[in-house]
Amino acid sequence: MTAVEVVAHRGATAEAPEHTLAAYRQAAAVGADAVECDVRLTRDGVLVCVHDRRVRRTSNGRGIVSALHLAELEQFQFGARRPRGRQRWADDEIVSVTDEPDVENGLVLTLDRLLEYITATPGSLRLAIETKHPTRHSRKVEEALVGSLRRYGLLGNGRPVEWAGRPAVRMMSFSQLAVRRMTELAPGVPTVQLIGKRLRAVRRELLLGNATAMGPGIGLIRADPGFVADAHAAGKEIHVWTVNRPGDMDLVHRLGVDAVITDHPDELLRRLGRGN
Ligand code: G3P
Ligand code: CA
Repeated sequence: MTAVEVVAHRGATAEAPEHTLAAYRQAAAVGADAVECDVRLTRDGVLVCVHDRRVRRTSNGRGIVSALHLAELEQFQFGARRPRGRQRWADDEIVSVTDEPDVENGLVLTLDRLLEYITATPGSLRLAIETKHPTRHSRKVEEALVGSLRRYGLLGNGRPVEWAGRPAVRMMSFSQLAVRRMTELAPGVPTVQLIGKRLRAVRRELLLGNATAMGPGIGLIRADPGFVADAHAAGKEIHVWTVNRPGDMDLVHRLGVDAVITDHPDELLRRLGRGN
């Protein structure tokens, strides 16, 4: 059995501001196997690593990502630190990592810049890319993603590019349509069907779809641990998110899931006996 993959959620977000290169470097430093990032399309068709529809929570700017050009997003400082837990930001909690935005800290991170970092040392970190609200943009998000993966040699030729026996990159989405489009456009890129509230009721039907893996939230696994064995019996991996509590880390390890997405990769690695 392949060892469970430790995936740092938006980078090591308990240690550094989400979706910054600092957070991704920190994930590598603690020994995570992979990192997760959310991508959205700018008005001029560039994929940027931003979780929310609006930039307010994670930058000092205002506006909707899809309504802004990259050059406009580059005016904002994205070095904002999210407090532990899931509270909203208070304005005075948004801190600048540096005075001048730069690519290491405050400048909005493009997917291409993240891919440049990931591929600079092939094999050191794999990447799970979640497309946010892709159905708004017809196939433009998947097409942009395919373009980026091609530029960095990660598209594969009908088969995944592998690093240390596992796919170097995968696409994830809560949208079944987006997952289907991606499998059509890029059959070499594995896909993860994320399962949130809307899809919980049909989780077993999803096992018949063409996603490579199922991505349930930890709440679903607590309520229905048998889903892991059912997915494996159907030939699907299980990539569970976002697992931050020690008890949940132990539960998903016991159940034999394939990948665990967490804000605390260091803690998870320790519990798996792989910590520094
Ligand atoms: O990996 C899936 C997980 O990241 C989904 O939740 O809101 O953090 O994107 P969210
Ligand atoms: Ca995500």
